[in-house]
Amino acid sequence: MKGVVFTEFMDMVAERYGYETLDEVLAGAKLPHNGAYTAVGTYPHTEIVALVVSLSSKVGSPPDALVRAFGRHLFGRFAELYPVFFQDVPDALTFLERVDSVIHVEVRKLYPDAELPRFQASRRADGGLNLLYLSSRHFADLAEGLIEGCAEHFKQPLMVQRRNQPVADGSAGSAVMFHVSPASGVAASPDRVAA
Ligand code: HEM
Repeated sequence: MKGVVFTEFMDMVAERYGYETLDEVLAGAKLPHNGAYTAVGTYPHTEIVALVVSLSSKVGSPPDALVRAFGRHLFGRFAELYPVFFQDVPDALTFLERVDSVIHVEVRKLYPDAELPRFQASRRADGGLNLLYLSSRHFADLAEGLIEGCAEHFKQPLMVQRRNQPVADGSAGSAVMFHVSPASGVAASPDRVAA
């Protein structure tokens, strides 16, 4: 996983919980290089999992909620770091529709060794978007947080429902369908409304 993901994670922890907590989280994660990440380096994705687990035991929030919160934070940072990806994109659903075919294609040009998920996007007749997340890793919570961050960025409330899909026998990866819809006021539980 690219170092930019780690440096942004550490920035979020420092911002929300302070540097002392960040130091304890790094110590608790027992990483081989004591958390010395550079934005352009590449590190095992299991290290971000170790950091999340360490943060979770420190602050008492469940790992999935922390990863989603990180996804929301990360999207805001991506919007600052890569404004060019937002040019001529009129709305949140158009942005999400283009993550696989445009955004991550550009990301791969910047970082040829990036470990990116695949997304299959299809517009529904009701105006919503179905986004199928496919990865050899298990970062659907991160994807959900990024989708929520996208809604916040465009100031367009979205309702996000997710469902695990079967994966091929013997595959260690994950397949998760996100059913994304423009939110029209009140959402029924357990769907989540972002923004
Ligand atoms: C400006 C927008 C975006 C940029 C610049 C961007 C860039 C990146 C980068 C640099 C990584 C790390 C790759 C690595 O560590 O090797 C990544 C991973 C990932 N991205 Fe994006 N991304 C963007 C938007 C999104 C959105 C909107 C979603 C969700 C719909 C998404 C889903 C993911 C996920 C889930 C991963 C983790 C890897 C995995 O699950 O296999 N990204 N992205």
